[in-house]
Amino acid sequence: LDIPAFRAALLAWYDAQARDLPWRTGPAAGKAGARSDPYRVWLSEVMLQQTTVPHAAPYFLSFTQRWPTVSDLAAVEDGELMAAWAGLGYYARARNLLACARAVAAEHGGVFPDTEEALRALPGVGAYTAAAVAAIAFDRPANVVDGNVERVMARLFAVEDPVPDAKPELKRLAGDLVTADRPGDWAQALMDLGATVCRPKQPLCDRCPVRPWCEGFRTGAPETYPRKLKK
Ligand code: ADE
Repeated sequence: LDIPAFRAALLAWYDAQARDLPWRTGPAAGKAGARSDPYRVWLSEVMLQQTTVPHAAPYFLSFTQRWPTVSDLAAVEDGELMAAWAGLGYYARARNLLACARAVAAEHGGVFPDTEEALRALPGVGAYTAAAVAAIAFDRPANVVDGNVERVMARLFAVEDPVPDAKPELKRLAGDLVTADRPGDWAQALMDLGATVCRPKQPLCDRCPVRPWCEGFRTGAPETYPRKLKK
């Protein structure tokens, strides 16, 4: 794989096609390389772990209107947060959300830490969320791997090993493509590609900016990746 050419093609596609999502805007966003508010990035990533972009977007907008900063969120009462969360499901995540906001407010002066490691130490922040916030908010070269990215890697490299066994390999393949150049855009470009083009069913290969590099496409059956263990 010609990594520089592959990266250039995907980032050019992202520059032209990036979805206009509410957490991609804000004080610092909008310019190439500009950083987004870590509070907005963190909140969006937590919401998106359990629901789709269209379902999460109105919640994201109402949360950020009511609580514009992490310190505002930290000050709400549990019941109020739970009521606002209703419809997003998975309430353990809402409790973690509040615990994390309170830790950022109380232990970090209301300022999110800016490394993957320090983010990972916050309550309820797992490997995925820490990597996503580090990359998207702080432009750290973190390896952000969700289900979309796993699927893109499985197809791009025609990984024959089935998931979940193949997950470490998929993560390693994704990590080999990360560089210090635009890591936040890179992470979101891969997610957008997975969500809109390299879809689970009926991938839109004729619209794919990285088709020339895709082993899965070459096999003639890209939709059969990632392979799954038969149950
Ligand atoms: N899914 C999870 N995080 C996302 C993001 N930042 N952009 C698009 N889709 C996502």
